[in-house]
Amino acid sequence: MGEIRGSRAVVIGGSQGMGLAMARALVAGGAEVVVTGRDEKRLEEARAVLGPSAHVVRSDVTSAADRDALAGRVGELLGGGVDALFVNQGYSRLGPFEEVTEEIYDRHFDVNAKGAFFTVQRLAPKLADGGAVVFTTSVADTGANPGMMAYAGAKAAVWSFAQGFAAELLPRRIRVNAVAPGFTDTPTMGVDASEEQKAEFMRIGDEVTPMKRHATVDEVAATALYLAYDATFSTAVRVPVDGGLEALSTAF
Ligand SMILES: NC(=O)c1ccc[n+]([C@@H]2O[C@H](COP(=O)([O-])OP(=O)(O)OC[C@H]3O[C@@H](n4cnc5c(N)ncnc54)[C@H](OP(=O)(O)O)[C@@H]3O)[C@@H](O)[C@H]2O)c1
Repeated sequence: MGEIRGSRAVVIGGSQGMGLAMARALVAGGAEVVVTGRDEKRLEEARAVLGPSAHVVRSDVTSAADRDALAGRVGELLGGGVDALFVNQGYSRLGPFEEVTEEIYDRHFDVNAKGAFFTVQRLAPKLADGGAVVFTTSVADTGANPGMMAYAGAKAAVWSFAQGFAAELLPRRIRVNAVAPGFTDTPTMGVDASEEQKAEFMRIGDEVTPMKRHATVDEVAATALYLAYDATFSTAVRVPVDGGLEALSTAF
């Protein structure tokens, strides 16, 4: 089992929601952590919650300049040996395919897919041999997902990247896995929508989820940390944290 205490970790998109829960669990376990996000207010709040073992850095995954600067900063702050990299940022907007403009489509793929791919490419030299990468995909990364096709397509790409990186980083003994959340209680609930739409989204989520509730951010974070530190003989796997949504929905 990998030790969290004394390890070095990076959480991309860690200033709120599941990413912040991952960073909190890492800090509580005794890791030194770099956390990223864009919004200064959220970053400031994360700094206050996480304390001095966390280095909170403003960085946008969609900017090549930011990704380069982040790689430099991670090297300065953590040295060459990052034990665990969590690629967690995401963007989703609900709506039928007729409403998906090219701008909306590009944003989904820039934040979720391109941002994830080039972040790992840029940070790979900073990873310790024997380390781990964990992507946050979604239960929507497979099958038909009406009303969220651009998001689902981008997350399908993320799951494909996770498997590809797992193969290409195997010679360095770096394990690459994915956590696939279902409906999870976060400030955005994973969607760019009004408060009413989000409440309705969650209500439907609780109805269709076999366990009849949504996940807490800590439940998702626990699985992400398990994949990074404890799942030492697992690579290229995807673990749903979804109250049975993917496996059991057709049983009801
Ligand atoms: N909540 C759900 O029900 C749910 C379900 C399935 C999958 N997911 C996935 O789980 C992950 C976390 O979801 P969440 O609900 O916790 O999201 P969230 O509350 O919206 O938090 C997302 C985090 O990523 C950061 N971020 C967003 N865009 C970024 C960018 N371009 N560059 C760098 N950081 C960025 C955000 O900070 P800034 O906005 O300040 O940058 C924030 O720290 C996402 O990948 C999401 O797609 C969520």
